[in-house]
Amino acid sequence: MNNRCKVCGGVLKQFIDFGKMPLANRFLKSNEFDKEYYFNLAVGLCPICHMVQLINQPNPNLMFNNEYPFFSSSSTIMKTHFSEMVDNVLGFIKPGDFVIEIGSNDGTMLSSFREKGCNVLGIEPSSNVAKVASLKDIPTIVDFFNEYTASYICSEYGKANAIIATNVMCHIPDLNSVLQGVYNLLEDNGVFVFEDPYIVDIIDNVSYDQIYDEHVFLFSISSIHKIISRNGMRLFMVSHQNVHGGSMRYYICKDNRPIHSSINKFINLENILGYNYIDIYNRFAIKVKESSFRFKSILEELKNCGENIVGYAATSKSTTILNYANIDNNLISCIYDTTPEKWYKYTPGTHIQIIPYSKFKKDNPRHSVLFAWNHKKEILEKEKWYSGKFIIPHENI
Ligand code: SAH
Ligand code: TYD
Ligand code: ZN
Repeated sequence: MNNRCKVCGGVLKQFIDFGKMPLANRFLKSNEFDKEYYFNLAVGLCPICHMVQLINQPNPNLMFNNEYPFFSSSSTIMKTHFSEMVDNVLGFIKPGDFVIEIGSNDGTMLSSFREKGCNVLGIEPSSNVAKVASLKDIPTIVDFFNEYTASYICSEYGKANAIIATNVMCHIPDLNSVLQGVYNLLEDNGVFVFEDPYIVDIIDNVSYDQIYDEHVFLFSISSIHKIISRNGMRLFMVSHQNVHGGSMRYYICKDNRPIHSSINKFINLENILGYNYIDIYNRFAIKVKESSFRFKSILEELKNCGENIVGYAATSKSTTILNYANIDNNLISCIYDTTPEKWYKYTPGTHIQIIPYSKFKKDNPRHSVLFAWNHKKEILEKEKWYSGKFIIPHENI
């Protein structure tokens, strides 16, 4: 166990321990059940730089390789969101400028940048998703972004006018190395824009399923402000986003542009609400236990009445919910999902089978747990016909 802060070396104050957990995106074939990888999922707050983080994290090569099953294009609302983000970033750069995306996945966002006339380059370690981007002619380097790969990119391709990263900065344990890489790769008047789930939304909504192996950090603006300054850059604006259950977009520069009022507004709010102190996280830990217990009780009551319960969307987030409450295929008979790479495989640790989404309409199950609750709007719109009931895992608290 390494209880030192990955950012500043401070001694972490642990506030929650989920126990033994498998890798959230490691969907298995039935002959792989006995060689599943487990690690201890626990979270702590750094009292010095206020970064909330996993105490232990599995080796990134175990998670991001040639079998990564998440594709950015799996949500229509996210595709729209990325295309709006492109327009927003274009307000800071010129047509024809060079844009680099860290964690470019299947090239969804870079395709939009290219359509707007930008030169683009992705850096993405999971080779199977990077291949989808390459098939769309999005130039992609298959590697982990850090200060070393950044220096290679700089010498081969030159500096970027914009560097973008969505839902990936919180995945990278050596954040200082990434930020040094960004600093060296960014033009002096360029912008670095990134976006990740926001800690205030996670704590407020008790959405503890945002905590799993890949999400090594839960960012607050206060903690990001400190680490950005530490790496010689300036956080000049933030903007809250209604995706993935509540995210924050951070705008960073190297030059002296004015600092937007949003920074002080949110930093003061986090201070007043107590996000830099352990008490709020200790209260969260109690609510997580209650939420998990209630969720399982709801499922057990339905099951005792002879009802069949299924899952909707085999999200990585569902791994924490299912394993923490020990919910297996006795309570949830199967999970419908749109990703062919997941079909007929089983959920990590709990071994519930994943079924092609196309069967959902035919089966019309009476009770479906909406594991992709973060895409609720899109899904409820799509499933207007559905006469059964959606259960949202942590809406019961
Ligand atoms: N940006 C996309 C994908 C998010 S999933 C979106 O918002 O939908 C996280 C992605 O980051 C995965 O594709 C994963 O392979 C990639 N990733 C993980 N560690 C990385 C690193 N060090 N550098 C670049 N990409 C990384
Ligand atoms: P998401 O919440 O985006 O991510 P994560 O897996 O990181 O928690 O969920 C993505 C999964 O949800 C992916 O397997 C596809 C599935 N999904 C559906 O099956 N139907 C849908 O309508 C949507 C939006 C997603
Ligand atoms: Zn720290």
